[in-house]
Amino acid sequence: MTKTITRRDWLTGSATAAAATLALSGSKAAAQSFMAPNVNPTAENPIRAHLNENVYGQSLKARKAIADSADASHKYAFQTLFQLLGLMAKLEDIPQEYVGLGAGSTEFLEKAAVFNALAGGDILLPTPTYGDIARFGRTLGSKLIEVPVSDDMAINLDAIRAAMTKNVKLIYLCNPNNPIPTIIEKNALIEFINEYSDQATVLIDEAYFEYVDNENYESMIGMVKENKNVIVTRTASKIHAFAGMRFGVCYAHPDIIKKMFGLFTNTLALPAMRGAIASYQDMEYQAFLRQKNKECQTIVSNMLDELNLEYVKSNANFIFFNAGRPSKEVAEIMKKHHILTGREFAPFTNWVRLSLSKPEEMQYFVEKYKQDFG
Ligand SMILES: Cc1ncc(COP(=O)(O)O)c(C=O)c1O
Repeated sequence: MTKTITRRDWLTGSATAAAATLALSGSKAAAQSFMAPNVNPTAENPIRAHLNENVYGQSLKARKAIADSADASHKYAFQTLFQLLGLMAKLEDIPQEYVGLGAGSTEFLEKAAVFNALAGGDILLPTPTYGDIARFGRTLGSKLIEVPVSDDMAINLDAIRAAMTKNVKLIYLCNPNNPIPTIIEKNALIEFINEYSDQATVLIDEAYFEYVDNENYESMIGMVKENKNVIVTRTASKIHAFAGMRFGVCYAHPDIIKKMFGLFTNTLALPAMRGAIASYQDMEYQAFLRQKNKECQTIVSNMLDELNLEYVKSNANFIFFNAGRPSKEVAEIMKKHHILTGREFAPFTNWVRLSLSKPEEMQYFVEKYKQDFG
């Protein structure tokens, strides 16, 4: 049975019920979304376009697994932990000894920064990029060597090469990058890893991996399989909508995995593990979310083209555009419409990072943006 949720359903607030009915009656992934688009945002319930979350929420299969886990949460969950470890290995066709699990991928970034600091190493990274490694490095007293992105706003591997020193023991590359959703071309990255992974651990943060649709992109798990000194990190916080539930996975040589986790981690809660087991196997829901993300990309880039604003083609679930005015000003005005946009990312103070939440919400954003700035 197919039934579409009408705009009237949304407006009258019966969308939740309507979509829940759909979810129960249909097997289509699209029917899973029972979190209604927020087309009447308020101060208490704004459109969340600031933190690159998946506002559709978790897969229904994951939600059920999470709810059902309450009955077993009084027990240590080692069996589930190994089941999840096995699944994450199988999905990437890699032996289980190469896999580490954590409560979000932040855990791996933190561990990598700690091991680098213990070895007295410096950290080499592009800027701007995702800030956690730099934050942890600073806290631990490590020297940071930050290399600006190139004029086309992509991570500049040649400039990173030029900045390399003997004391660098950790290189952080976020691919796709954040806040600028560019990718590093696969062959260039493989070449870079071949060149530098004997000298330093190369950490490739693939938080937005699931959203990439670009023939020039490739996960660097292949380099892990070749036993290079590489750590690939992934998170369930994005397409799997586990930002608050917490689950992440990393892939690295068994020596690195052992160093980071001992035998295995025990930081994971049963609901997160059971939810992840369900979510990572729900390919249909992931395909639905990728499709919705594309619709959002089209809606926003059409507006940017129309207004003649410069932007970086998105390889993730957010877009980065030059508003021609301070992003702080845009954020303030959008907040009055109850739309939250990304914070300022120096030195690109006129550029706005907009998370691609839902097509209906992006349409609302476009309407308000044009009203104020068009
Ligand atoms: C590039 C990148 N890496 C890591 C993270 C942290 O993810 P997690 O929630 O898995 O700790 C984020 C979160 O936004 C991110 O953008």
